[in-house]
Amino acid sequence: MTQQIKSLEEYKKVYAESVENPEKFWAKQAKTFTWRKPWTKVLDYEFKSPKVKWFVKGKLNITENCLDRHLESRGDQTALIWEPNDPSQAYRTYTYRELYEEVCRAANMLKANGIKKGDRVCFYMPMVPELTIAVLACARIGAIHSVVFAGFSANALADRIKDASCKMVICSDYNSRGAKNIPVKKVVDDALAMGCDSVETVIVHKNTGEKTAMKRRRDIWWHKAIEGQRKTCRATQMDSEDILFILYTSGSTGKPKGVVHTCGGYMVYTCFSFKNVFQYKEGDVYWCTADIGWITGHSYIIYGPLLAGATTMMFEGVPTFPDAGRFWHICEKHRVNQFYTAPTAIRALMALGDHWPKHYDLNSLKVLGTVGEPINEEAWNWYKKEIGKGTLPIVDTWWQTETGGIMISGLAGISPEKATFAGYPLPGVQVCLVNADGKEIRGNGKEGLLCIKFPWPSMIRTTYGDHERCRQVYFSAFEDKYFTGDGARRDRKGMYRIIGRVDDVINVSGHRMGTAEVENAINEHENVVESAVVGYPHDIKGQGIYAYVIPNAKIKNEAAFQKELRAIVTREIGPIAKPDKIQVVSGLPKTRSGKIMRRILRKIASGDTKNLGDVSTLLNPEIVKEVMKGAKK
Ligand code: WT7
Repeated sequence: MTQQIKSLEEYKKVYAESVENPEKFWAKQAKTFTWRKPWTKVLDYEFKSPKVKWFVKGKLNITENCLDRHLESRGDQTALIWEPNDPSQAYRTYTYRELYEEVCRAANMLKANGIKKGDRVCFYMPMVPELTIAVLACARIGAIHSVVFAGFSANALADRIKDASCKMVICSDYNSRGAKNIPVKKVVDDALAMGCDSVETVIVHKNTGEKTAMKRRRDIWWHKAIEGQRKTCRATQMDSEDILFILYTSGSTGKPKGVVHTCGGYMVYTCFSFKNVFQYKEGDVYWCTADIGWITGHSYIIYGPLLAGATTMMFEGVPTFPDAGRFWHICEKHRVNQFYTAPTAIRALMALGDHWPKHYDLNSLKVLGTVGEPINEEAWNWYKKEIGKGTLPIVDTWWQTETGGIMISGLAGISPEKATFAGYPLPGVQVCLVNADGKEIRGNGKEGLLCIKFPWPSMIRTTYGDHERCRQVYFSAFEDKYFTGDGARRDRKGMYRIIGRVDDVINVSGHRMGTAEVENAINEHENVVESAVVGYPHDIKGQGIYAYVIPNAKIKNEAAFQKELRAIVTREIGPIAKPDKIQVVSGLPKTRSGKIMRRILRKIASGDTKNLGDVSTLLNPEIVKEVMKGAKK
């Protein structure tokens, strides 16, 4: 079994060991898994290119570790609980044996439909068990999954399908979220009409059963395709460094990039971090409320928990349906022990009143977690008091799509806790702060740019199809360091607090967004000359999206113009990227070399116009007054 740290002293000891001899430390963790062939070398790396290989030449299949390995010891234990959107509908459970059989059937279904090792399979699905089953089925036969959050638009989906040349798309007919029934297959049809030539087959899972158009020879129903498939399927032997999945995420420039994770290191790290951060004990029920369309769902709904032999829950719905007590109702109903959610959900529920959690018995809860964005003190305190009865530990877990697993976090009930601080790095994670020149900032009570100076097993290997971009974005800013894009502060005791992104990436309700992406969408409007998008503090979302737009002609009906802009963003990216505020301006503050002064725009958007700094050196200093005057409250 993967090591589980039990005390602060042990953490300190293990951390020191992991830094002194990382290879020895990770080899010890890796040995607790099932390998078809052992590795010849633990680590082979060079950050410059970058080239990172963990458990070199080791052979394995991650699903043998998620499923087969548990059959003997816990075949009848619940592996997966699925709670539907509609609480009056029956929930479903799968034991480890049942999940194993379903994954094998789905794997055989994929094979029968031409999927082979190395093929890319795109997922565009709501939170239904078939998503988890099919993701694992891909991993079982060595196909690469690329899950796209089902809130993205057809355009965004098409971009991702094309970038990875996916051979298959797996989707649902509809997505039932709250009171809505959202067409999913229709979005896939629209995306595929945009020249996704690589796609040969679409497997459609019948979720709500409403009328769905099927294209002959391309589309097949899941229930038909899986009929008669055998309940066993030999797992394909994978190299440690074979690709397990691609997951797209936004950066400060250009289109979203496909972050690549590989089999061996990701397996070892997600299991280790899961067990230690959440202090999962045999028999506990663990619930992460994230969507599998994001990394949190990959690592801490599917892989980490199943590798650890846990009972993991998936929830199809939303926190406010049928009412704002839904999360707490589910905690009571399934006797949830570890609950992991995002600050934006906490803030939204907090705003709806303290009485909601009071209706329910939350005594099963042992650990509370948060992830995705900095948590503000008020939300932290509410979480602690109203959900944690003032006593439960909160783990504030900092990590990224690129890190694959949790990097900085307390270990529940073990590490010291401080509101709004993620805390100490996990064993094996060598974080540091650097200044703008790349010099490491030593000592405590300091602030700087957050970097990681030594490889960890679940780190990004490349950006799919564009290795140079990976080098440039993450490994070129500072020599021999991975740059996170976040700023952080280290307090007197060495605990870390994440301040937020220092690049042009914003975090809206825990969803990561590139401001350039939103600008590109806005600029598609025929009446837009130029735009600039920045984030501003938002009570519920953490950050809201503020767009400054220069039109090329006088706007007669501003409300209609704003509506059109929002529709374009929804079309190009999805509703999650819709600007909260749009301000029409005649110009944007620029430097003499023509660069937009985002710093000034950010200040104006956040209503902080007192400390704009020196604007006299701008190309067009007069514009600042106009922008300030028209700023949206
Ligand atoms: C960015 C990564 C990793 C799961 C979900 C987000 C921010 C993430 C925290 C936290 C403060 C956090 C960072 C990071 N972030 N967790 N606990 N405290 N900020 O993954 O979409 O790749 O976004 O989210 O800014 O860089 P992601």
